[in-house]
Amino acid sequence: MITLPGLIDAHVHLRTPGQTHKEDLSSGTRAALAGGFTRVLDMPNTTPPTVDQATLDDKSRQVRASAHCDVGLFVGGSARNVGAVGQLSGRAVGLKLYLGETYGPLFLPRMDTVIAHMRRWPGVVAVHADGWHLAAAIGLARLFDRPLHCCHVARKAEIELIRQAKELGARITCEVTPHHLFLTDADSGALGPLGYVKPALGTAADRGALWANLDVVDCIASDHAPHTLEEKRGDFPPPGVPGLETTLPLMLTAVHDGRLSLDRLVELLHDGPRRVYGLPEQPGTHVQVDQHERYVLGDDPLYTKCGWTPFAGMTVHGRSRRVILRGKRVYADGQVCMSNA
Ligand code: NCD
Ligand code: ZN
Ligand code: ZN
Ligand code: ZN
Repeated sequence: MITLPGLIDAHVHLRTPGQTHKEDLSSGTRAALAGGFTRVLDMPNTTPPTVDQATLDDKSRQVRASAHCDVGLFVGGSARNVGAVGQLSGRAVGLKLYLGETYGPLFLPRMDTVIAHMRRWPGVVAVHADGWHLAAAIGLARLFDRPLHCCHVARKAEIELIRQAKELGARITCEVTPHHLFLTDADSGALGPLGYVKPALGTAADRGALWANLDVVDCIASDHAPHTLEEKRGDFPPPGVPGLETTLPLMLTAVHDGRLSLDRLVELLHDGPRRVYGLPEQPGTHVQVDQHERYVLGDDPLYTKCGWTPFAGMTVHGRSRRVILRGKRVYADGQVCMSNA
């Protein structure tokens, strides 16, 4: 058994408010604890989206009432909140800008809106941006000397561009997801709509480039994006896959297979997210991990409400055994011990 610090997932969608049939703050934070995460950063594309004081107040209140681990909140940039959203910077972990179309209402089609948000937001700007949008975001962050975080980087050309930008001294950080590290478009046939995610699963060359450039990656983040099986198998499947309960076993498997050191795993799942978003240490908080237990990932038991995973059937090495949050045991041998609500 080895002891790691409480892990941080810097990109999750817990769906409260408005889409709690997919997930909610209680089920999502239980899934977090079961996955070894004691802090998660929740995205703003809820219903309504977290874009102003009222929606941030409401989500904060719900976090206090029903979250089982620490939850940091993003606010989203919209066409209408350019002037006012900056006032929330002390209470949000960052501003999320959707430069590409994805799930939810926060897509920013206009260049002037993106530029205005980038110029004004006083903290970290996290972007959903692929291809040229990513190149533009990096250029704008450089122009305005703003810290930029690139979410779910998935393509060879993108990670190589980020490497070059970092080498040139840009204040840029990035995350990659386990699904882009472990799955490719070759899995899409078998997964069907369950493999539909933004950005789409890449080629073997894309996946290889993410592993080859892991030294310039700051965080592994799950982009936990639960949707129900009924929705995924419906006529218009929404993009997104859950990941809170599979990220640590998959990354421990990479350690087991010699693709990653354990120190680097801790950097990617703890130190990196803390540094990118300036998060405080959680005192008395750690995760005990059995590094060598070998098992096959299944759909059951899972704490996420959506009840499925695109990684079902994969053999992994390593399991979270116990989670201690501020001195209290909150997870032990498969059971989340209720701390709240
Ligand atoms: C996310 C979701 O469902 O909220 N979906 C996804 O495919 N990643 C949105 C996002 O992260 O872009
Ligand atoms: Zn996204
Ligand atoms: Zn996301
Ligand atoms: Zn082993």
